Amino acid sequence: MKILIVGGGGREHALVWKIAQSPSVTQLYCAPGNAGTAGLATNIDIGAEDIDRLLDFARVEGIDLTVVGPEMPLVAGIVDKFEEQGLRIFGPSAQAAKLEGSKIFSKNLMQKYNIPTAKFRSFSSADDAVRYAEGQGPVVVKADGLAAGKGVILCENANEARAAIQVIMKDRTFGDAGGRIVIEEWLRGKEVSLLALTDGKTLLPLEGAEDHKAVFDGDSGPNTGGMGAYSPSPIFTSALKQEVLNDIMVPTIRAMEKEGALYKGVLYAGLMITDEGPKTLEFNARMGDPETQPLMMRMQSDLVPLMSACIDGTLDQHHIDWSPQTSVCVVMASGGYPGSYEKGHAIAGLGDADAMEDVTVFHAGTREEDDQVVTNGGRVLGVTALGADVPSAIAKAYAGVEKITWPEAHYRKDIGQRC
Ligand code: AMP
Ligand code: GLY
Repeated sequence: MKILIVGGGGREHALVWKIAQSPSVTQLYCAPGNAGTAGLATNIDIGAEDIDRLLDFARVEGIDLTVVGPEMPLVAGIVDKFEEQGLRIFGPSAQAAKLEGSKIFSKNLMQKYNIPTAKFRSFSSADDAVRYAEGQGPVVVKADGLAAGKGVILCENANEARAAIQVIMKDRTFGDAGGRIVIEEWLRGKEVSLLALTDGKTLLPLEGAEDHKAVFDGDSGPNTGGMGAYSPSPIFTSALKQEVLNDIMVPTIRAMEKEGALYKGVLYAGLMITDEGPKTLEFNARMGDPETQPLMMRMQSDLVPLMSACIDGTLDQHHIDWSPQTSVCVVMASGGYPGSYEKGHAIAGLGDADAMEDVTVFHAGTREEDDQVVTNGGRVLGVTALGADVPSAIAKAYAGVEKITWPEAHYRKDIGQRC
């Protein structure tokens, strides 16, 4: 099979790494990829959002399966366009990806089908939103559309809510994503996530995996895309997993089917475990980044037949085998991230880290320049290790991290210590 992976981050390197191990693969491409995917696949210089050129490439090359990493092309309808041309592609349609692409769509769906979530109201007028927020306690103000994970503002009081509404709706800091907003109750509890493969009817949950969102140790500082991740998640007992499947994830794919938008691909539920049980914070229409990195290290089954089964509606005939080991991924980022940062620093020590037993260095923001790998983004690498238990996985991942250097590299020192 000729397989194309769309995207160029750490998640996509991990998918390329895993899919490259499948006996069904004859050729592997990644668009646009990074310096890490270049070692396992042919990088194609087409951006993940350039759907027309991706479609042309897939047609001309006779790609048998396309796997989409990031949310933007999904929400923009890449799956619909490929399917119209008879091309096989893994991921939800544009209508189904609205579960991530529009907070208002997903909140309305949850309300209509009694799927547990925070109480909310949606607004297209900033004045109405401010009036509403003034009568509430702590709230969360969310831009309706995609804002690269940044369009969510937690507000302790009405003053903070007013400021958040100003930033999102009036200043349009997140562009058109802030034309409408959701204001919802601030939920307290433990935050966890559950990812599942689905063909629209059957859900096959993945093992638990948790990320660390804040940039600094002890969960301090601003939120990032994720500074590290680990799997399994000690919070996700099989009882909790079953509760989330029964009360949230299965009702959601049934609801999507009833709405005429069969949901295929990965369903990622971001959850708060409250005193009243698990409630949904958000859905994502794709794998998490960096959660994918430890998950791929632990997945023993071939991913390609599982993705094919999601497309064909035969997921009920499959199961997934996992390594019982623990995996920990430490993200190494550019100094200054998630704010502004420099690019183009040469990275030393990659070979030494990759040569370590049980350690894989997944690249995110990297590129090759004059036979050297240089930094090319905020999150640069995900040093990911397998260990017999949590302490040994942590020790191996950090032993890998210590071999790698570039000016002002930054990473958290406490990844995995929550588990
Ligand atoms: P979202 O993109 O909707 O998942 O929001 C980003 C982050 O904001 C989540 O991972 C939570 O940490 C936090 N968050 C979102 N909604 C709520 C809520 N209703 N209550 C508390 N925290 C929330
Ligand atoms: N790590 C969080 C996400 O991928 O949305």
